[in-house]
Amino acid sequence: MRRLIYFILSIFLVFVLASCQSNTKQVSVFYYDKDDTFLNLISDKLTSELSERYSLKNYYASKSQVTQNLQVEESIGNTDILLMNMVDRLSSGVIVDKCKQNDLPVIFFNREPLLNDMINYEYCYYVGPDPEKQGKLQVECAASIFGDPKNLNSKYDINHDNKIQLVILKGEQGHQDAEKRTQACLSALRNKGYDIELISIGVCNWSRMEAYNLFWTQYNTTLKNVELILSNNDEMAIGAATYIRSILSSDEEMVPIIGVDATPDGREAVNSKLLASTIVNDHEKQADAISELTDIFLSEDKSMNSFKYTIYNSKYVYIESEIYTRSES
Ligand code: GAL
Ligand code: CA
Repeated sequence: MRRLIYFILSIFLVFVLASCQSNTKQVSVFYYDKDDTFLNLISDKLTSELSERYSLKNYYASKSQVTQNLQVEESIGNTDILLMNMVDRLSSGVIVDKCKQNDLPVIFFNREPLLNDMINYEYCYYVGPDPEKQGKLQVECAASIFGDPKNLNSKYDINHDNKIQLVILKGEQGHQDAEKRTQACLSALRNKGYDIELISIGVCNWSRMEAYNLFWTQYNTTLKNVELILSNNDEMAIGAATYIRSILSSDEEMVPIIGVDATPDGREAVNSKLLASTIVNDHEKQADAISELTDIFLSEDKSMNSFKYTIYNSKYVYIESEIYTRSES
């Protein structure tokens, strides 16, 4: 008799477990690459938030849109939502169409689709920073170093021509954050009345190594002309700074270099005076907005009314930024 009860109980348990299993929704996250420092911060946060409630699968496309399209194809039928970090943001329309055909919600993040590609599908949003604001904040930092545009701080206007000799390190051609941060840096400097000599804009694909190599090869002899470096992210800022520090003597003042992201390495570089400052690209809030939207799409008892972030143009969630500086003690 006891055996029979155990048997019936265990069958019951198997059914309960099986039904729990099938209720767990599947979330698929597609990253443009595995080796991007900032995206790895987003990924860690997303994984810790989402894996508590969902079954989570991460895909990495090694910077190939063809690979990413195949990964998306593979996931259809086995997923309840797609979280997309596009390789080529201009290919987003194809992904939206796929999701629409299959009734699947899609949340883009970090690599921004055009409005036209999203506007005709209700279950689709973008989450990222406001790159224009981030560029403006970089210029706020530069202004606090150079001071009065009509009479620049002579410690930093090394050749005393009252112009700022500027190098920009650009993340990636066509990436909205790279284009908008760069444009905002240039126009905000000019709007504040600074006279700029733009020495160069170097594209270094967000990479520390590429920026280090760029300075090693191109600025080796002309470094003395560079008075300010505005970098689209911390990794490139640290690459350039590491090279410059290596050729300056220990009593020479570091060229002001301002990054974006405030990664742990970026913060440490600011604290150790390798970088002048950086701008927070708030990965925690970005991941939080993505996981809130995921919950809204996947759970029956939540709606957009409970979403706590502002939505622009019905589709875009831009998370605010702030300056990160050294706390002088
Ligand atoms: C930017 C970030 C960069 C890089 C890039 C990848 O927002 O500042 O460090 O992660 O996204 O798309
Ligand atoms: Ca100068």
